[in-house]
Amino acid sequence: MNSAVKRIGVFTSGGDAPGMNAAIRSVVRSCMYYGIECIGIRRGYHGLINGDFLKLDFESVSGISRRGGTMLYSARSEDFKAKKGQEKAAATCKLLGLDALVGIGGDGTFRGLLCLAEQGLSVVGIPGTIDNDIACSSYTIGYDTACNTALECIDKLRDTMQSHERCSVVEVMGRHAGHVALNVGVACGATSVLVPEQPLNYEEDLIEPIRQARLGGRTNFTVIVAEGVQGGAYEVARQITEATALDTRVTILGHVQRGGVPTLRDRVAATYMGYEAVRLLAEGKTCRVIGMKGDEYVNYDIKEALKMEKGLDPQTYPVMKALTGID
Ligand code: F6P
Repeated sequence: MNSAVKRIGVFTSGGDAPGMNAAIRSVVRSCMYYGIECIGIRRGYHGLINGDFLKLDFESVSGISRRGGTMLYSARSEDFKAKKGQEKAAATCKLLGLDALVGIGGDGTFRGLLCLAEQGLSVVGIPGTIDNDIACSSYTIGYDTACNTALECIDKLRDTMQSHERCSVVEVMGRHAGHVALNVGVACGATSVLVPEQPLNYEEDLIEPIRQARLGGRTNFTVIVAEGVQGGAYEVARQITEATALDTRVTILGHVQRGGVPTLRDRVAATYMGYEAVRLLAEGKTCRVIGMKGDEYVNYDIKEALKMEKGLDPQTYPVMKALTGID
């Protein structure tokens, strides 16, 4: 196959996500299809600055799709934020003969790719974060696995909360976004879901749904709190205890949501996105971000993508509100 680029560097950056390995595998195998060499950069932009790399071939990525985490490690780099760091990273690319980069991560990863595009690299970003908070894509790698992990934990919690007739307050990840909380809340039939995108009204959004559930006969309750909600799960639990005298327990799911065997959805999305990234570079495109629009794989100019905004799914929130308190 003809290609406009000859040697691609691939790296993962920001919070890791289940499915990143499947994306790496797809980039490597797609490079081989197009006759392009592929170099793995370890530890994101930190690794680019320090020249931390390894050659990747067919065997390097064999069997990694089913493994969580990222074989290339990930890191957040303060040095790369400075021009000097960006120039060092570009020098590494020059030394290694890289004429293109594929960065798998979030918005910060894409902003970094733009800096390297200014240094002459062809670049494409792939959305990889469990938060699903990248505006140009309806789906980000890791989201489905993280939601299923959280749901499995919440189902276990409900067993013991039912036995002891308690109220469970569960904090899920999402940094500043409530997508995980909302999706998991709908799936588990939560009594209430609190997200940072909505103004916080404890009485209306928390206490009243609990009262409605109690009036409906429930004796145990599940409240899902996105980590970006002001005060977090412990403040929500205090509000519940103060208003209802319910026996309440807090569970912070934390980084368990970032691990695990990637689901089919994450492996498939990662594989298609990895192929699309290499296809675009082989066709001479640059400064693009791969995304999903419904079930379709699309791509946008990085600068345009970074200007986009993404709120909660307009259909999910009303449904969740309508059903809270009714299991
Ligand atoms: O961005 C993914 C994410 O898991 C967020 O949901 C979470 O707030 C953050 O990363 C945690 O970052 P770290 O792994 O650096 O503690």
